[in-house]
Amino acid sequence: MMVKIKKLDYFGRGVSRDKEKVLFVEGSLPEEVVDIEIIKENKKFNEGKVVKVIEASPMRIESPCPYSKECGGCCLLHADSTLEDEYKVSKVKELIERVAGLDRNLVGDILTLKKLHYRNKAVFHVKNRRLGFYKEKSNDIVEIDSCRLIREEINQLIPVFKDLVKNEKNDIEEIMVRVGNNNTKDKVMVSIKGEVRDLEKLKELVDVLILNNRKVTEESQLLINIGPNRYYVSDKSFFQVNDTVVIKLYDEVLNFCKSHSIGKVLDLYCGTGTIGIYIADVVGEVLGIDSASSSIKNAKENKKLNQKNNVRFICSKVEDYIDRVKGNYDLVIVDPPRAGLDNKTISHLLKIKSKNIIYISCDPSTMARDLKKLSVDYEVSGIKLFNMFPKTYHCESIAVLERK
Ligand SMILES: C[S@@+](CC[C@H](N)C(=O)[O-])C[C@H]1O[C@@H](n2cnc3c(N)ncnc32)[C@H](O)[C@@H]1O
Repeated sequence: MMVKIKKLDYFGRGVSRDKEKVLFVEGSLPEEVVDIEIIKENKKFNEGKVVKVIEASPMRIESPCPYSKECGGCCLLHADSTLEDEYKVSKVKELIERVAGLDRNLVGDILTLKKLHYRNKAVFHVKNRRLGFYKEKSNDIVEIDSCRLIREEINQLIPVFKDLVKNEKNDIEEIMVRVGNNNTKDKVMVSIKGEVRDLEKLKELVDVLILNNRKVTEESQLLINIGPNRYYVSDKSFFQVNDTVVIKLYDEVLNFCKSHSIGKVLDLYCGTGTIGIYIADVVGEVLGIDSASSSIKNAKENKKLNQKNNVRFICSKVEDYIDRVKGNYDLVIVDPPRAGLDNKTISHLLKIKSKNIIYISCDPSTMARDLKKLSVDYEVSGIKLFNMFPKTYHCESIAVLERK
């Protein structure tokens, strides 16, 4: 069936029509005429995939990945970066207008740096001695030899992992790899779940090796530089995946603090304390809260390592602790997971009445929903976009709110 694509949807799929139904087509771009095959019929919409591109968009580029059709991890590999940037900006503008009920012109440009090989972390799954990524929305493995999104240091280890997985004496479920820059040398951490008889070769190749939560090497965590600070990060702690973009994101928060004379800061969903420590020298004090005990353990180590005595951390779910937060806060920073903020947290944020809120988000749809609720008492003064996840439909945003 031949269709013309109008635009891209939230998930980077082309949107068209199949008689009365909306049609979502993976692998297509706006303005293209494509021959498609229906892969799923639903009550109100159908889903299809491209069999042949009949009239290609001038923005179409050759996908540099042989697995892209099967894997689905990066749905915009076949799109020129200009198209990707414009798509992300207009997607957030549309959500800000339609969901948040705010002016779409509040959304500024997007910052894109490295377009490929930017991810400092990968998780490989293993099934029937095949190592790769899970196919989108399934537990089937797409076996790979390399990935265009992950750092080359990680790609170079894939043959070694494959040898371990193929060895009948081993029984591996999952391998997580993370790369961190410590001064001039990039260091590599590998954490394996499963049974492995001989780790000697891998031990020589990596700096930190963990097997079933137990360290094999002397070191058990990475030390990563972001700007002037250093951060301990364990295998279980959250750490932003794109370390060139994250500096720019944190600089945005730092510059806001420098220009606003900020006293007390509440840093909700603080992870390993990265943001609080980054801004510690220009604010009065910071209280960071995160529910992951490994991250808070790292955050406390990072406070000492960077000698920031005005930051402290609490391990708790934000929603369980928020009603105990007392005092006058100048700034609340929130950086929640994709689900965004729950209603209890939002209603307490409105009671805390901080002068400003900085909302950092990896999902613009939940951010837009939460901005609508917060805009009862707050005015959104601007939203900037950071392309933390190039070639995927994901987009990082930062919104600055001022109390009315
Ligand atoms: C997007 S990360 C942000 C981390 C940090 N701000 C950074 O830049 O590295 C979200 C964090 O929220 C934490 N988290 C998830 N649900 C939570 C909850 N209900 N309460 C507190 N922390 C939570 C996770 O452990 C994770 O560290």
